[in-house]
Amino acid sequence: MTQQTVLTGITTTGIPHLGNYAGAIRPAIESSLRNTAKSSYFFMADYHALIKCQEPERVRESTLAIAATWLASGLDTDRVTCYRQSDIPEVTELNWILTCVAAKGLMNRAHAYKAAVQDNVENEAADPDKGINMGLFSYPILMAADILMFNATHVPVGRDQVQHLEMTRDIAQRFNHLYGETFTLPEAVVEENSMVLKGLDGRKMSKSYNNTIPLFEDEKKFRKLINKIVTNSLEPGEPKDPDTCTLFSIYSAFASTDEISAMRRQYEEGIGWGEAKKQVFEHLNELLKDKRTLYNELISDPAEIDRILKKGAERAREYAVPLMAEVRKKVGIGPLAG
Ligand code: TRP
Repeated sequence: MTQQTVLTGITTTGIPHLGNYAGAIRPAIESSLRNTAKSSYFFMADYHALIKCQEPERVRESTLAIAATWLASGLDTDRVTCYRQSDIPEVTELNWILTCVAAKGLMNRAHAYKAAVQDNVENEAADPDKGINMGLFSYPILMAADILMFNATHVPVGRDQVQHLEMTRDIAQRFNHLYGETFTLPEAVVEENSMVLKGLDGRKMSKSYNNTIPLFEDEKKFRKLINKIVTNSLEPGEPKDPDTCTLFSIYSAFASTDEISAMRRQYEEGIGWGEAKKQVFEHLNELLKDKRTLYNELISDPAEIDRILKKGAERAREYAVPLMAEVRKKVGIGPLAG
């Protein structure tokens, strides 16, 4: 069997929240520590950020926050190649070559593009492509370049990204057919029971609902946010249902089986909301506080993060540079002699 290469990227447009941590960051780090017989690439997709965010300061801040979050959460950069997409110029170079291989019709079918057109049609815009930039339209090609540049075999993603992986395989196949066997066809890895955390208002925790709890919020604000989680009007002493409770579900994402059963018992015995929130805050705070300190140290020293990411990029380019040279040669670009 060929060696597994796991690769995943995060678009740098936001600050990680508890939901990102429980649903993606923590499982990815755990998996990278568990299985050492594979190579792993984690990267910050900062060029992808430009598709939807044209605020330079936000892109920069998000890149710093995401890198610091991964490092503070225990990512081992000796085992995992961790880099910034924009530090690998070969990726954007490959992006162009793949753009010339990918069918436009394939891109017409991309969900993100179709949804944007649908929005325009529903709002009766004069132009169905109103407000849609070419970056959004060809987004899946840049993603294919990210993946194929390292011949990744396994790509952990959310369900919304599965179509992009199919497109990546399609583009890789087309390239291989035109120019000879070059790229490995990657597989999407969708964690079936990956944790989806609820947010302050009980809906899925998501930046677009404005209901998130930032992972490394300072202690005072963190306590305030936990206190804002919606509950109901049951009084202390009245039994409460843990299974429909947002506070309980958030607690459960960060507690052991024993701790969860103990909390369940307290609900049945009628714990008051004030007390329950206090316990949840204390538990989460205890779990996160050392990481938070480390996170704050890291973001106050961006030069150190740059250094770590550059080192990651150097390692990544040991693979990307020769593969890109091969690709260039195959398509007929390069020195005329030899
Ligand atoms: N499109 C992904 C997202 O929005 C981020 C991403 C960019 C990515 N390039 C990737 C994920 C390559 C996996 C592999 O979540």
